Amino acid sequence: MILVIGQGGHAESVSSVLRALGEHTQIKSLEFVSQEEFDVDRYSSLVFGIVGDSLQSRNRTISRLEQVSKLSGFVASTAIVSSVSTIADSVQIFEGVIVGPKVIVGEHAILNTGAVVEHESSIGRNTFLGPRATILGRVSIGECCYIGAGAVLLPGISVVSGSVIGAGAVVTRSIEEPGTYVGSPARQIS
Ligand SMILES: CC(C)(COP(=O)(O)OP(=O)(O)OC[C@H]1O[C@@H](n2cnc3c(N)ncnc32)[C@H](O)[C@@H]1OP(=O)(O)O)[C@@H](O)C(=O)NCCC(=O)NCCS
Repeated sequence: MILVIGQGGHAESVSSVLRALGEHTQIKSLEFVSQEEFDVDRYSSLVFGIVGDSLQSRNRTISRLEQVSKLSGFVASTAIVSSVSTIADSVQIFEGVIVGPKVIVGEHAILNTGAVVEHESSIGRNTFLGPRATILGRVSIGECCYIGAGAVLLPGISVVSGSVIGAGAVVTRSIEEPGTYVGSPARQIS
């Protein structure tokens, strides 16, 4: 039995992928977990099923939970991940994701349904790729970045830690200042 921590849509999505992998899952809210009323040994592994508004806050919660137990990731059965890429243990890879060769994905990153990460790109710790986000070759994305659904990051650019890219944005140049960027070509709005 895998414990999925969370109670929102992301926890449901995580649980659905795990069930498709043949696992039994139980979803419990973070509040319950933080009361330390659960027995870690009852579960084969723990998966963190929360995204939330702030990835910095997600990072802090993950650090706290990892004092109790290591958190696990997964690779959905329909995902294709190059054997010469390096994926941290806690990464969540959803249905239909494609990861090309020599890609590096840091701890607790989330590659949501249908996201594509092309060759030699890197995705930082706790960065979230929305459904069908497309990261072209040799792109470097920092930690705690939120890349909206369907966004496209053109080859060779870098995105500084803590950036938010809106759904459908096309990022044509490197982003050096953390903020929120939308549109095509992507422009900073805050
Ligand atoms: C970019 C984003 C984070 C901004 O959210 P926000 O800070 O709450 O911004 P607001 O909704 O107040 O919008 C601010 C302005 O940006 C515009 N805007 C917001 N998102 C936009 C987008 N993706 N593309 C183009 N313009 C966008 C709004 O129309 C608004 O313009 P206005 O000031 O002229 O009215 C959000 O709109 C977004 O795209 N999130 C991604 C969601 C997603 O993909 N989730 C995946 C879940 S699995």
